[in-house]
Parts: sequence; C-alpha cells; structure tokens
Amino acid sequence: MLTKADNELLVRTGPKTPMGELFRRFWTPITLASEVGGPDSPPVRVRILGEDLVAFRDSHGKVRTASYPAMERGGLIWAFMGPIDLMPEFPAIEAFAVPADHRSITKMIVRGNYAQMQEGDVDSSHVSFLHSRQDGKPIPGGRVDATVFADRQPRWFTAETDYGLMLSAQRDAGDDTFHWRVNQYLMPYAVLIAAPPNTPVLTQVRVPVDDDHTLHFRIWSNADHPLTAAERAVLADGVTVPEIVPGTFSTKEEYENDYLIDRDEQRRASFTGIKSIVAQDLAVTQDQGGYGTIADRSREYLTSSDKAIIALRKRLLTRAKQLMQGTEPPEPRSPGAYSVRPGDFKLPRTVPVAQGAKDLLLATVR
Ligand SMILES: [Fe+2]
Repeated sequence: MLTKADNELLVRTGPKTPMGELFRRFWTPITLASEVGGPDSPPVRVRILGEDLVAFRDSHGKVRTASYPAMERGGLIWAFMGPIDLMPEFPAIEAFAVPADHRSITKMIVRGNYAQMQEGDVDSSHVSFLHSRQDGKPIPGGRVDATVFADRQPRWFTAETDYGLMLSAQRDAGDDTFHWRVNQYLMPYAVLIAAPPNTPVLTQVRVPVDDDHTLHFRIWSNADHPLTAAERAVLADGVTVPEIVPGTFSTKEEYENDYLIDRDEQRRASFTGIKSIVAQDLAVTQDQGGYGTIADRSREYLTSSDKAIIALRKRLLTRAKQLMQGTEPPEPRSPGAYSVRPGDFKLPRTVPVAQGAKDLLLATVR
C-alpha cells in the first residue's frame, strides 16, 4: 500500500513532476528507427513523458528531435530530455548491442499508466496463475519451467544493484533443489524477463506516453546467433506476441472487446481464455479500479508474493525523492552495470542464487 501522495509521485511523469524529472536523467526510447525514413525524412510525431516531440533524419541521415539530443541505437530512436550537462553514456543493455538480425521488436501503445504495467513485468508470482493452463500445454518456445505451475507460492529475494534491481523468485523443485526465476529491472524503463538459457531474452520496455498511456516495446534477442526460423515462428503464433491492428500500434485484443476472451477456452484449457500473453497481462493491469487508467495504491493490500513490486516502487520513489532534495541518481553514471541477463535455472538448495548463477546472469555482447 502507498499513501495517496506517494501514489501520485509514482505515476506522474510529465514535465516538472519529480518522477518525470528522474526519468529525464536517462536516455529515453521514443520510437522505432524504422518509422523514421531516410535523409530529409518527413518528421514523425511522438508523445513521450507528456511532451510532444518530432523525430526526423537530417540531410546527413542523422536522427534529430526538436528539441533534444537524439540517437539511433538497437533499432530504436532515443532522446535525452534532461539537462544537457547531465547527458549520460548509453547503457550497455545487451538487446540494443546485438546485430539487427539477432533481434525482433514489437511496438505497442496501450491505454493505462506505465507503473502498473512495469509492476507486472517484474512480478514472477502471477505467472503461476495468469499464464497457466488446465490442459497442461506448455508456454510456447519452452520459456516457462513446469515448476512455476507446480509451486504457486514463490519466495522472493530482492537485491539493490548499480543498474536497478535483481529480483529472484525461488520455487521448490525436489528435495535438494530450488528453481529460480531471476528478473532484472534496469532503471528506469526496461525489465529483462526470466527464461531458460538458450531461449531468446525478452526485454520489456515501458515508457510513459503521458500519465494515461504507455509505449511498450516487446523485444526478443539472442546474444550469439540470429533469430532462427523456429524462434521467429514462435513470435508469429499470436500467443507470445499479440496480433497488431495493421497500420497501428494497437493490439487486436483490447479492453473494449474484452480482449477477445473465449469463455469455452477459459472453462476447458487456459486460466484466462485470452490468447496472447500480452493481452492476458493487459486484462489485469489496464483497469485496476483506481481513477480511470491509474491504479489507486492507497486502497490495496500486498502480501509476501508482491515483494518484487514493493522493491520496484521503493527504488523509484527513493530516487525521485532524492532528486527533489538535489541528489542526482547514480544509475546513469553506471552504464556498464547494465550488461546483465535474466535467468531461469535450478540450483542445489545450499547455493545462494547470486553465487550459483554468476556467469549466467552476465551479458556477453555490449
Ligand atoms: Fe505476465
């Protein structure tokens, strides 16, 4: 539960708001590089953090925005919207460092405040329920271990890091073994979602368009090889990545059509009866009974399974309050620390997660 004041602090990111000022200390992804054409391209309008910007390529093919520094990196256009003398180096996030054919990006713009969607990204607890099936069919691409559906009460281990948070959910996997899902929160926009080694890394990027809408990039990337035909087939199945209305950034499954819920499927086969994992998440994050599109966290009750969400809020609120007092956030000054991976693995019960998975949790491409 948050006070009304802290809830306001968390969700408002427009110009001159404390959280908006914090976000403006980081490079902000604003649009797909492919939306901005060749040299002297027509400008692309984007709304980000409650400000209206235009992005275009100049005669030399360089990306510009009116009126902030901009660059192209990893298939996206990024702007720095903060004080120019505080412009940081670009963070070493692996998904944006790999070659273009190692990566697939889906862009969506959805109704709803960024914070409740990011809370869903960091949370491993809901996977046991929301994304589960009664018919035992696995999540496509071998991305979720069966343990996650067997033990629905994970224990959380949260650690503060130089880039943000390492969020580890521990589940039972036999007498001597724990199963671990490690999500990484990279301040302030990205969450790396736990998945087994040798599957593409899912990088979830959430950027406030304004307080009521969120820009969502769902990014799949491999460090050491281009996406294979089999991996691309998984991305085209309508489950892993939702269907998008052609010519838009809107999902076909949406609030107004009840996410195309199939009640028979819900009775027989899957927990939600909703086809795509993204829409399953939207169904529980878009409308959280607050004021319109924004959750009212002063009316909720959290439990131990919500520890990752609590850690996320605490980190953001702490940094925003420190900045109000004149202390700059340290994370933009640690770009190399962002070179991490999520994880999904089993370890002997006696081995601490950070130690047992040390190599797995480091990125190799920077
Ligand atoms: Fe989810």
